[in-house]
Amino acid sequence: MRMNDTKIGSQEHKELFCRSFIATHQEYEVDKIAWPAVDDVALEALRSIPFWKEALHTEQQAGAMVKAFTNTIRDPLLKEAIALQGYEEERHAQLIEFLIKHYNIQVSQLPEPAIPSNVKTAFINFGFGECLDSFLAFGLFELARRHVSYIPKGLFEIFDTVLHEEARHIVFFINWVTYQQIQEGQSNWQRGIQAFWHYCAAVQDKIRAFSGSVQEQQEGFTATGASSFIDNLTPELFLSTCWQENTRRMSAFDPQLLQPQLMPNLSKLALQILRLIPFRRQSNSQPQLSNY
Ligand SMILES: [Fe+2]
Ligand SMILES: [Fe+2]
Repeated sequence: MRMNDTKIGSQEHKELFCRSFIATHQEYEVDKIAWPAVDDVALEALRSIPFWKEALHTEQQAGAMVKAFTNTIRDPLLKEAIALQGYEEERHAQLIEFLIKHYNIQVSQLPEPAIPSNVKTAFINFGFGECLDSFLAFGLFELARRHVSYIPKGLFEIFDTVLHEEARHIVFFINWVTYQQIQEGQSNWQRGIQAFWHYCAAVQDKIRAFSGSVQEQQEGFTATGASSFIDNLTPELFLSTCWQENTRRMSAFDPQLLQPQLMPNLSKLALQILRLIPFRRQSNSQPQLSNY
């Protein structure tokens, strides 16, 4: 398999996905972030967003797991890149902690992050999970930015950086996992089956995490979180925004790199099916499929 000039799975490919990941790392310290002032309406909205605890737990767990996985890697370049991802995940957790403290958001005590027994499998499941999460988060974030006027622009700018880092993580991951599988001698169909099983495991992890969140907060994570502060959110609007934002964010990467394909393709299919449903609710913001 070739993407332009770089043979996927080659040493050249490894150099490309590691070096571009390392080169695009952004230096910043979370304790230096200037959190914008918010009015009472925005404060109440921030405090009612149901996913802070889940987001903090996910980032803390990710930081600890990626760090543990880094310690098992021998290749110096892969080790440097994956260590950087671990650092960025820890920084995301710190950023959310700072936000929770700054705006006095009530979050119950979280358990200490647990290191899974098989860190490589955990890293792979986590990576596929991030591909699912990030695709949805790109759309949710853009919808909030367009429709929630009482949240200050400065807050969106802070989280835009986080989402850009997540975009870098999923591009790095999909290249790393493919490189790894090719190095292990796996054929195309073996890689497809593996990806399917890991996506299934990632979805099961999400369901477990969301059902815990539902029990505790009577709310889900992404979609129900979105509908709690955006009126008239239709599946078409949500999916088309995810698709468009994913396309926009992915356009920033070197075209020689692989990009996650499952969620964009599934959402494109879902949008085409939704378009065929008769008498569906019309929306002014209805997506135009002709551009997909
Ligand atoms: Fe993260
Ligand atoms: Fe990440």
